[in-house]
Order: sequence, then structure tokens, then C-alpha cells
Amino acid sequence: MKNIPLAIDVVEAKTSNIDSVDFDNLVFGNVFADHMMECDYYDGQWQNPTIKPYGPIQLDPSAKVFHYGQAIFEGMKAFKDDDDQLWLFRPVANIERFNKSSQRLAIPEFPQDLFLEGLETLLNLDRDWVKKGFGNSLYIRPFVIATEKGVSASPSKSYKFMIICSPAKSYYSGEVRVFFADKFSRAADGGVGYAKAAGNYGAQFYPTNLAKEEGYQQIVWTDANSHEYLEEAGTMNIFFRVGDKLITAPTSDRILDGVTRKSVLSLAEDLGIETEVRRIKVAEIVEAAEKGELKEIFGSGTAATINPVRGFGNKGKKYELPQLEDSYAALLKQKLMEIQYNKAEDKFGWRYAV
Ligand code: COI
Repeated sequence: MKNIPLAIDVVEAKTSNIDSVDFDNLVFGNVFADHMMECDYYDGQWQNPTIKPYGPIQLDPSAKVFHYGQAIFEGMKAFKDDDDQLWLFRPVANIERFNKSSQRLAIPEFPQDLFLEGLETLLNLDRDWVKKGFGNSLYIRPFVIATEKGVSASPSKSYKFMIICSPAKSYYSGEVRVFFADKFSRAADGGVGYAKAAGNYGAQFYPTNLAKEEGYQQIVWTDANSHEYLEEAGTMNIFFRVGDKLITAPTSDRILDGVTRKSVLSLAEDLGIETEVRRIKVAEIVEAAEKGELKEIFGSGTAATINPVRGFGNKGKKYELPQLEDSYAALLKQKLMEIQYNKAEDKFGWRYAV
């Protein structure tokens, strides 16, 4: 990847929408901050990075993103501490995964220094959109789409990189119950499951709608070959607490290498919680639930943070989980937030000051 220093053009919004936003009652991802970043790829390089007022973009109807789904994205968050300092959480891990996803979708990688410089400039313009206090954050959505005109099935020669930002509280508004997939699949070996390819999410909507009709908010995907092993949920990686052991599936071709997932593993190990990263059989979890040994299930993700799962469904049977006083999900979420909001020592070096 060539790293040509590029000056970012900044056009400030003349007015702000911030006063019309009810920050106490945010629905995830519905409101956007005043500015966005845009950068175009053509003639073999990224050009004209610009930060400008948030607004619609124009694309040709034949742009390849519409026809072949050549699009990838990331999810990141910024937090504000009590002294008004802004912090990003492990941004380099997200940028590296962004470029890994790009590579898989034949999209040119985006220079890390330009990504960070643009993001910092954007956050400084929109810093009032980041509210203080645990649970408040600015969700950052970087993405790339293929913009070349023409419906031939080949990689686009032009792309648009963008970053948009949305003030966020929790992703789920209520309790979450999950359904263990036994028919549809999210990803297969050799596929794009590990990438944040837009189509990975779109393809989940139909089976998730079917699960919703049965009272579940999410699906836990099983391996595409046998449907015997639990892998990842639609919007989160997934953890199981059996006895006092915390178990999650290993990352692979099919499973997203979640930044929150790996942070949870580090925090758990630091707290002396026994962790296991290994394949997890559906039958093992069902048996543990039936014996009363399955104490918790929770999801982890940038948007979801650490989200407890209240119950699960498997082959027509519903299971409820106990509400624990000593919940790992609650403890790990507290520890994670203390680092994110600069309330605790950052012993892992995860905070990035803006
Ligand atoms: C994130 O957690 O940032 C994601 O990208 C998941 C998305 C479905 C909201």
C-alpha cells in the first residue's frame, strides 16, 4: 500500500442538528453527527480526502456496489471522560481488520495514517456529539463502496471511503434471547465470514426475521457443515459460562475476529476467570442448561458492548438462564467501560487519545 501524505480538505457545517436530538432516548444508528469524511479512489490511488457536512451522496445506478455487493465496513466507538477528553478504543485493531476485509473483497486498502488523521479531525469537529457518562458513546461507521459504473462482474476501479458517526447508547432496547441455527448458515470455510462484508449482514436478515417471529432477537450461527458447533451471533461474538469457565469459539475463516471479543478474553484472564477458546457443541450447551450448569450466555461487539442473553431456543425447545448476582457479563462490562471512559488504568494500552 502506498502511503502518500494527503491534505484533508475540511468544510464545516454552517448549522448543527445537535439541539434537535434527544440524547437520552437514542435508537441505535438513527441519528448522525454533523460531519462525515469522504475519500475517493481512482487512477490507482486514494484522492481528495474531505470532511464536510453530513448529507446524501450521488451514485450512478450501475455502480458495482448495487449489483455485486462490493462493500465492507467497520464499527468503532469514541468515549468522553469527565475532563472532556475523547478516547477511541483500540482503533488500530479496527483499521487493520478494515483492510483485511477490503483485501478479501478485492477493494484497495486504505492508508492507516490517513484513516486516523481523518477520524481525529472528524471527531474534533463533532466532539459535542459525544456525551459523558457510562453507556454514552459515538458509534463510528467507516465503510467503502465500489462506485465504478457498469454491470460487468469484475472488481470496481473506483471506490468511495466514508466515515459517518452516530451518537449511541445501547444496541438492544430490551432483553435478548437467541436461537441456535439448525438450517440456515452465515459463513462457510473459504468464504467471507471473517470479513465485515456488507453482504454477511444482509444475508442474515431473513433467517433472523423467522427467529424473531418465535420470540428471539438474534441467531447464534452454527457451522455450515454439521450445524453441531456454535460460532457467532448476527451482531456479536458469543460467550458461554459453564460452571465458572468462560468459553468462546476460536476465530476462523467463518468467525469475525471481534475487537471486543479479544478484549473480553484479556480482561477475563486478568480477573482470574478460567477461559477456553475452543469449538463448542450445541449438545454440550443444551446438556449444561438441562443440568443447571449453564450459568450465562453473553454477546460481545462494538455496538452491543457486552450484552447478556436471557435465554435460548434449540430445536423447538426454549431455555431460560438464571439472573446471577455474580454475573461475568456485568463484571466484564464494568471493567471494559472503566478502561473505555478513562476511569481505570489502561494496562493493556487500548485507549487512544483524540
Ligand atoms: C458492530 O458491533 O460495530 C457491528 O458492526 C455490528 C453491527 C451489526 C451493528
